Amino acid sequence: MDATTVTVTGAGGQIGYALLFRIASGAMLGPDRPVRLRLLEIPQGLKAAEGAALELQDCAFPLLRSVEITDDARTGFDGANIAMLVGARPRAAGMERGDLLAANAGIFGPQGAALNEVAAADIRVVVVGNPANTNALIAAASAPDIPGDRFAALTRLDHDRAVAQLADATRRSVTDVAGVTIWGNHSATQFPDLDHATVAGRPAREVLADALGGADAVTRWLDDEFVPRVAKRGAEIIAVRGSSSAASAANAALSHIRDSLLGTGDGWTSAAVLSRGEYGVAEGLYSSFPVTSDGSGYRIVEGLSLDDRARARLDASVAELTAERDAVRALGLI
Ligand code: NAI
Repeated sequence: MDATTVTVTGAGGQIGYALLFRIASGAMLGPDRPVRLRLLEIPQGLKAAEGAALELQDCAFPLLRSVEITDDARTGFDGANIAMLVGARPRAAGMERGDLLAANAGIFGPQGAALNEVAAADIRVVVVGNPANTNALIAAASAPDIPGDRFAALTRLDHDRAVAQLADATRRSVTDVAGVTIWGNHSATQFPDLDHATVAGRPAREVLADALGGADAVTRWLDDEFVPRVAKRGAEIIAVRGSSSAASAANAALSHIRDSLLGTGDGWTSAAVLSRGEYGVAEGLYSSFPVTSDGSGYRIVEGLSLDDRARARLDASVAELTAERDAVRALGLI
């Protein structure tokens, strides 16, 4: 099998360190597909990336064909089949939202343009760096020759967190859980939705009612515990670990690409993909939806019903995405 070229930006950072070794081991592309790694960093991050490359060599991974390190986006994305855009500008103290969006547009705009020029024809892109949805929008807008549905932003970590919380609350295995959805923005406004979820084939709300003592208790648990716990899990990890989630984020990014390429099987997962107006989400936004893939990329699962509670929560998160888009438009960034 031909080698797949995978470019990881921010490869010298903590998610990069948790991601590179698993890609090289075959955990993302499967046991038969050799991989060429490209590590794209800014000058200050090159040493850390070089250190990771030395360790990658020391692992003697049978599938790893090469590791190249660069701080030039065109070199980094040249012939790339998969781009994992992890490196981003974090929010500094006192930074307004507009400043954060502009700083990241300065990264994701040029990276999108470089992808447009030099990536392979089958390029697929996942944006991990925050604000991930709007960064994906900016990268895609800067890559007019790449179909917009090749870009996505990562909400798989939120999805996996929701699956794990539901399994924990019902004292079942994560493998019993299906039909969980993250809607909207990868932010505190996201809507983790269990209305279509099942646990061991039974509606999740029914199984939760047995575990929690009735339907009213389920709605209280969903609104007061489950949704905020999932939506604010990133802050909880920072408070406990002292730094932001890295291994779980890397695992989610890897699962996002793996399922896009190898397929989602019977169930669905969540990813922030290009809206064409599905579920009333404004066309052109990158919003999280329930998605499946047959290996050719993510498609939105259509036809799910949304009750008033779900509608209001989705609308609130989409309003935030719309405001972010309008802010980058007003700054002339897209
Ligand atoms: P980190 O600070 O450890 O590493 C970021 C790396 O990106 C640094 O090595 C930095 O030099 C590099 N970088 C910065 N600008 C770059 C550019 N223009 N090109 C290439 N590299 C660049 O951060 P960490 O923990 O690895 O997180 C990375 C991003 O992922 C953050 O934006 C974080 O908020 C986001 N994140 C997203 C999650 C999601 O679920 N979507 C979950 C967790 C984190």
